Amino acid sequence: MIRLLVSLGSAVLTASACLADPAALYQKHCVECHGENRLGLIGPALLPETLGSLRGTALQDTIRSGREATEMPSFRDVLNDQQIDELSAYLKTPQDPAPVWGMEQISASLIKNDDYEPVKKALWSADPLNVTLVVETSDHSVSVLDGDSFEVMTRFKTPFGTRGQPKFSPDGRYVYIMSRDGWIQKFDLYALQEVGRVRAGLNSRNIMLSHDGKWIAVANYLPNTFAILSADDLSPQKVEHVKGKDGSPSRVSAVYLAAKRKSFVLALKDTPSIWEVFYGPNPPHYGFAHDWRVEGPAPNKDPFPLRTITVKSLVEDFYLDPTDEYVMGASPSGTGGQVVDLVIGHKIADLDLTGMPHLGSGSTWKMGERTVMATPHLREPLVSIVDMKTWETLKQIEMLGSGFFTRTHENSPYLWVDVFFGPHKDAIQIIDKQTLEIVKTLRPQKGARAAHVEFTQDGKHALVSIWEEDGAVVIYDAKTLEEVDRLPMKKPRGKYNVGNRIEK
Ligand code: HEC
Repeated sequence: MIRLLVSLGSAVLTASACLADPAALYQKHCVECHGENRLGLIGPALLPETLGSLRGTALQDTIRSGREATEMPSFRDVLNDQQIDELSAYLKTPQDPAPVWGMEQISASLIKNDDYEPVKKALWSADPLNVTLVVETSDHSVSVLDGDSFEVMTRFKTPFGTRGQPKFSPDGRYVYIMSRDGWIQKFDLYALQEVGRVRAGLNSRNIMLSHDGKWIAVANYLPNTFAILSADDLSPQKVEHVKGKDGSPSRVSAVYLAAKRKSFVLALKDTPSIWEVFYGPNPPHYGFAHDWRVEGPAPNKDPFPLRTITVKSLVEDFYLDPTDEYVMGASPSGTGGQVVDLVIGHKIADLDLTGMPHLGSGSTWKMGERTVMATPHLREPLVSIVDMKTWETLKQIEMLGSGFFTRTHENSPYLWVDVFFGPHKDAIQIIDKQTLEIVKTLRPQKGARAAHVEFTQDGKHALVSIWEEDGAVVIYDAKTLEEVDRLPMKKPRGKYNVGNRIEK
């Protein structure tokens, strides 16, 4: 006991207080890198919302062993097992009161890149609409690929732990990348330089850019808000606390863009409702009390008026159809889904989809006269094909396992689906878009997870990730389905082609 006291070198803390007070251990050993209130600094935020992905003893193991090739040190010789356990439990305890992150904090977080120099035109000669980004998660980087030669034009650092899809400005010049801790990085692809970054939330889910490239909407888990930023200078424009009818707060699971309605549509995690936030000059709906067609334009000057649609059951993951009118939502209990018509603000159909369809990653195309949508299921080895007029499930295709992502291209006859879970995680299955039969199963690297497909802008090539620390992006001829190239990458997750991803 006495030796421990001396070695801790602290006159104020007794050994027992120290063992019992993980907050003090945090202040002593972690605060310099992980920040006051565990909100992050040079290291990531350490909050229950962010640590969920460290399962089992992964949190303790990280503290004990540190992270190789990063600034996260090993605490093996500094903290004993009990201290590490207590510290871990402390990090997984929500803060009370919950941290505040409003307009003021967002504004103050802005970091401009002083070295950034805007350029008149791109510093490179590649086709700007065929540039493709590869998000590499193991060392928090993005590779910028020339989509014709597949050469890496540059590789840059992102904030810790990117999440969701990067968003491109309508001209393809800027890309906005969000991180788990709510940082939004603006990168100029023409100058190949970061413009700046701002923290829009403390734990964030995804972002969307308005079709005109002016506004960024951010879905936050912590705090329970959505935020709207100016895409130009990253300044906050609006922060709204999201609440259910009874006033209880709700996390925002995701934000979607309904470009034709000039609105952002929010999926909420904790309350059965869908929120729509208009950014256009003349919103088609202004709450139930005000009908602008009858009563004239919106009575107050809120540039982002809000409308809430109450639904019967939670919809936290959804697919917005190509007309931007219908929201296909899955229920988190996995017992089915519903279709909500955004124009009338009501549910219009049930979906016969069990086994947790992952609607957010669905794909649509024309099959004969019909428009269909394909969705993988997270809990069943199936891909469901839904008719987007009758909302009937036309077919369920049996896969080698549950998938996560689907992808197709208007010039491709095939739908590409990964087998994300289970023993066949190394497989990508190719489905004919007209016959709905599996025509081929690719295994880019035996035993290694293959996931997430993106096409080049012309649809001639399909890029698949080998989702491993020392992974790769494997490039296929999208017609012959033969491999044409393989680029080594550090745990490549998503790939995003500028031309395919900008709103057309
Ligand atoms: C010298 C700076 C530094 C100190 C001191 C430090 N860390 Fe870290 N820590 C980091 C960095 C940087 C990372 C990100 C590593 C990476 O890129 O994976 C990190 C990552 C972590 C992670 C993984 C988070 C995740 O979501 O993957 C945990 C957990 C963690 N630190 C806990 C602690 C604890 C607990 C302490 C104090 C006992 C501590 N760290 C002290 C810099 C530090």
